[in-house]
Amino acid sequence: MGVMNLFKKKSNTPQAIPKHVAIIMDGNGRWAECRGLPRSVGHRTGVDRIRDTIEACVEYGVKYLTLYAFSTENWNRPAAEVDYLMNLFMEALQNEVPKMHKQQVKLRFIGLKDKLDPDLVELMEESEKLTAGNNSLTVNFAINYGGRSEIMAAVKGIARQVREGELEPEHLGEEDLAKRLFTLGQPDPDLLIRPGGEKRISNFLIWQLAYTELYFTDNYWPEFSKKHLLAAFEWYSKRERRFGRV
Ligand code: FPP
Repeated sequence: MGVMNLFKKKSNTPQAIPKHVAIIMDGNGRWAECRGLPRSVGHRTGVDRIRDTIEACVEYGVKYLTLYAFSTENWNRPAAEVDYLMNLFMEALQNEVPKMHKQQVKLRFIGLKDKLDPDLVELMEESEKLTAGNNSLTVNFAINYGGRSEIMAAVKGIARQVREGELEPEHLGEEDLAKRLFTLGQPDPDLLIRPGGEKRISNFLIWQLAYTELYFTDNYWPEFSKKHLLAAFEWYSKRERRFGRV
């Protein structure tokens, strides 16, 4: 054993910290139902885990965090649950944005704003404006987001420009599509975390996740603490990323 190893301090810090972490926050409803509580309590507790996760990402130097809060398919839930979630987003933004701003967090919202309540949209835009100059962690909240519709919007934009003679199909590259996505200018996620036991992508960042390491855990989102996040980072540290090379 080398002399350095004798002195090496035991540390809880994983060796490799992903630059961009994406999370599908699943299992709020089941967590609550298991405890005989209404599903709404699960969603509310989920907000506490968002706060913890943002704090931990700032602490560990993660640069981008993308959180799936509401998908284009989530409108199919009972109206009362959709309403509850929309009100919870409003309340959480009102309470949490000042704290995030203090931590130099830059907030972005990805997804289509058209179906959302105008008051919520106003709050989202104010939060983006307030935190635009911050530079610790960029948090993308995906609200009314769907990966296929994001790609379709990009394709339509390209098709229009081809029709106008502004683009040549032969000269199109992946960058031409990537720069028309909500995540333009951001690196692709290094690590996707999905709590809640399901092993699927559910139309989340389907272009951007092409080479992402996928981490699934049975814990529900309302119980996903900093300890669980560090376990995911630890697992990520041990991956060997080859990007198609040998
Ligand atoms: C999935 O659990 C979770 C959601 C659909 C909502 C996620 C939203 C939050 C945690 C609050 C977000 C707050 C802000 C500020 C954006 P589920 O209901 O699908 O759980 P289940 O699969 O057990 O039913």
